[in-house]
Amino acid sequence: MSARDALWYKDAIIYELHVKTYADANGDGVGDFDGLIGKLGYLQRLGVTCLWLLPFYESPRRDDGYDVAHYERVHADYGTLESFARFVEAAHDHQLQVITELVINHTSGQHPWFKAARLAPPGSSKRNFYVWSDTDQRYRDARVIFRDAESSNWEWDPLAGAFYWHRFFRHQPDLNYDNPRVRRAVLKVMRFWLDRGVDGLRLDAVSHLYEREGTRCENLPETHAFLKEMRADMDRRYAGRVLLAEANQWPPDEQPYFGNDDECQMAFHFPLMPRVFLALEREEALPIVDIITRTPAPPPGCQWALFLRNHDELTLSAVTDEERDVLVEAYAPDPRMRLNSGIRRRLAPLLNNDRRRIELAHALLFSLPGTPVLYYGDEIGMGDNLQLSDRDGLRTPMQWSDDLNGGFSGARGRRLVLPPIDDAVYGYQAVNVARQARDPDSLLASISRLIAVRRRHPAFGRGSIEFLPCNNPHVLTFVRRLEGDTIVVVANLAASIQFVAIDLPAASAGAAVVELIDDTPVPPVGSSPYGVTLGPHACYWLALSA
Ligand code: BGC
Repeated sequence: MSARDALWYKDAIIYELHVKTYADANGDGVGDFDGLIGKLGYLQRLGVTCLWLLPFYESPRRDDGYDVAHYERVHADYGTLESFARFVEAAHDHQLQVITELVINHTSGQHPWFKAARLAPPGSSKRNFYVWSDTDQRYRDARVIFRDAESSNWEWDPLAGAFYWHRFFRHQPDLNYDNPRVRRAVLKVMRFWLDRGVDGLRLDAVSHLYEREGTRCENLPETHAFLKEMRADMDRRYAGRVLLAEANQWPPDEQPYFGNDDECQMAFHFPLMPRVFLALEREEALPIVDIITRTPAPPPGCQWALFLRNHDELTLSAVTDEERDVLVEAYAPDPRMRLNSGIRRRLAPLLNNDRRRIELAHALLFSLPGTPVLYYGDEIGMGDNLQLSDRDGLRTPMQWSDDLNGGFSGARGRRLVLPPIDDAVYGYQAVNVARQARDPDSLLASISRLIAVRRRHPAFGRGSIEFLPCNNPHVLTFVRRLEGDTIVVVANLAASIQFVAIDLPAASAGAAVVELIDDTPVPPVGSSPYGVTLGPHACYWLALSA
């Protein structure tokens, strides 16, 4: 692998999905690896280059698989280790890389480690696989994350006669990283999946690994030390694999997950995402300019992962109270749309199913600095179901066609793992892949086009960013540059027509200009500011060439 290929994740387009709800090949009502294998052609045609799979391990599924009961087994509903191996091979044959989950902060209460810990003598290494206490008053500065479901991070265990620590649901005890056997066990799980050919691992809830009195028990130096150990272990044995941090933090606390190029190569940019929605709501560029300007550039081997939506609520923990109020009022007017400190809705309903705003959001996702991560179904504008509990409403089956169960499963008269969306606007009868694949003007066609254009221009994945001075606060203007490739992005955040005069760098005078998304030549750059008129929510990618 060349040094350039080792940085493959900088050019990647990641697509997030759950095997459970993607495609059901054996007709039992639950998605499976064989079903997913059958959809790889679709994913390759869409243009994505990497699949991120939500947890598919043995689990009681009380947190959709983030409650792992056995790290090295595949949930029987989805297949076997053998079917997983066939999937990885088929994905690679389709030029798709694979990122899986390493849920290392906690396990399910059903995990054999926890069952053994409860019975083991206090103070023993087996007991100390988890974090125990005689009182529930320790680490009081740590926030409760799932605050709609839990009021404390401690839970009493009558069998052990002690409290155990959990940052998420009470059925998810936290592992104790002060125990060297835990650290060794986690490294073994990491190698197990790297040995099965996965190209990357998303480190779930990675900011919470350690606890220390008098701190928020997040982002502790011990966590970073362990991440350096993981990274070194991975690099020693496996070339070109990537660690992706899920650390939902403000920029100064997120950046350290890159270390000095010796921790995770990627980290989700949590503060950017809500500010895209804020910019759309306020019809102004400032929230985006402000957060990117405040985000230090990652070390050379590292990259932000950008996203609009994912399988969780749209988290608002990295915004100010005032910003949160604006976002909740605009995007979650119905209290059923709120969950913990976020909003449990999918992209299309959040943006009122407004095609222009949905396309603009994607044009920003694909042009701001970082690797874009798409959430399955957003490419066709899937909706959500507020009747379902927790985050299930935005995790419903992929809508393939207007057939039975939206083409997700042939199961008749059996309960599906989750019901497909069936309402008049977003139901599978109206919103599905088959219909959009036939229509050159569909959202699916637009998203595929954006992906194709992005893939032709490495400046988007690897280039620098510079915001350009402009005279209209509704319009976001920045330039992405890599070697000879210069692309000026001009985005109108307003619902009205806007005119903007952009101060392009002096060196661009006389350059020819092509709008890349529509592949259309537009007037060349003159000597004065470059004038552009944009329709409501229009976004142009202007390639400049001498
Ligand atoms: C995952 C959630 C999960 C939580 C606890 C997260 O950060 O994205 O879906 O509920 O970790 O495992």
